[in-house]
Amino acid sequence: MRVVLFTGKGGVGKTTLAAATATALARSGRKALVVSTDPAHSLGDALEAELGGEPVELEPGLYAAHIDTRALLDDSWGKLQGHLRTVLAGAGVDELVADELTVLPGVEDLLALGEVRRAAESGPWEVVVVDCGPTAETLRLLGLPEAISGYLERLFPAHRRAVRGLLAGLSGVGKGAEASWDATIDALDGLAEQLTGLRAMLADHTRTSVRLVLTPERVVAAETRRTLTALALHGLRVDGIVANRVMPGPPPSLRGPAARWLRERHTEQQSVLAELSGMGEVALHTADYAAAEPTGVDALMEIALSLYGDADPVPPGIATPPLITVRRTAGTGTSVDSEFELVLRLPGVADGPLDLARVGDDLAIGVGPVRRMVALPSVLRRCTVTAARLVDDDLCVVFTPDPRLWSR
Ligand SMILES: Nc1ncnc2c1ncn2[C@@H]1O[C@H](COP(=O)(O)OP(=O)(O)O)[C@@H](O)[C@H]1O
Ligand SMILES: [Mg+2]
Repeated sequence: MRVVLFTGKGGVGKTTLAAATATALARSGRKALVVSTDPAHSLGDALEAELGGEPVELEPGLYAAHIDTRALLDDSWGKLQGHLRTVLAGAGVDELVADELTVLPGVEDLLALGEVRRAAESGPWEVVVVDCGPTAETLRLLGLPEAISGYLERLFPAHRRAVRGLLAGLSGVGKGAEASWDATIDALDGLAEQLTGLRAMLADHTRTSVRLVLTPERVVAAETRRTLTALALHGLRVDGIVANRVMPGPPPSLRGPAARWLRERHTEQQSVLAELSGMGEVALHTADYAAAEPTGVDALMEIALSLYGDADPVPPGIATPPLITVRRTAGTGTSVDSEFELVLRLPGVADGPLDLARVGDDLAIGVGPVRRMVALPSVLRRCTVTAARLVDDDLCVVFTPDPRLWSR
């Protein structure tokens, strides 16, 4: 099973290329599901079909669906929110405050991603192609499982969940409260389990990869590099950059203003493509600018042919080295004169403003506007950060034992 996420700025052709990819897969005999998590659903327009939350088979092996986050929100999250409110009210928390406490940021999008995972694990398809919506949102979305886990853990630590009977007893309202607390714990555990599953799916590079769609215009290269860094920071593997709407060069014999315009655009696009093709180890694909809007499976198939030719649209995933490694650089590892280095592989990190902070047991890493919290392995929690440096694409953070914590 493979999952491919298509992302990129608004209007560059994410929906079209996601649909085209699924169509090409289906026509080569692999069952494919294309699913949109973008609230601005246009997948139905691209495929010229009526889509809903349940996948429909449009032609042999080609399935499509729109995920309706609103409906999900009212259903699964609504129940949990209800439980939480009851518990908080039982504990004497003001109703308005309880309302505020039970609003999780981004939970709507998270449910959409959860639904993708459910679909990925339940249907007959070999590949799930996800039309993700704009990059900024996707990045936020992909960071959510981790962010929300942290949030939940802070609000309702696992150890506190474990003493539920005690807590319910303490609130002194008897049996009813205990049942309601139990229901809440079950719902929270369910959510936590979902989050763990999602994180595992996204981090599994043999399964999940991202394709970044863009149109080859000037300034796009620098932005692309930043996006690649941000995706790497979230631990995702980008297996392709797709340049869409690539124009043909006019034959040299063609004269006049239209030919001049086309020639200039073509030259500009080619220079951007040259810049992009030198970018890291990520493959660059191009799709032709179609004369008419490519909608409907036949037109999409044409686009897919210009994009993939005879190549496999979705090759098997590959195992990549772990994003984060820890190594001992001095001492025995148990002695107080030990030194450790945490290394984070982050292509493009040298370009961006980088900021680094220790927050409790986490390391907060920010590259430009994107931030990630990395939970430190237990040995490093008893250390302090003494230095950090960049070695090519590697961010190296040096830790030495904190004498006050080390011997414990
Ligand atoms: N290669 C292409 N040639 C011509 N038109 C295209 C091409 N790719 C996309 N389009 C058209 O551009 C518009 C935006 O594409 P869409 O896939 O909806 O972008 P996004 O999902 O990134 O917002 C649509 O009308 C689509 O039909
Ligand atoms: Mg779209």
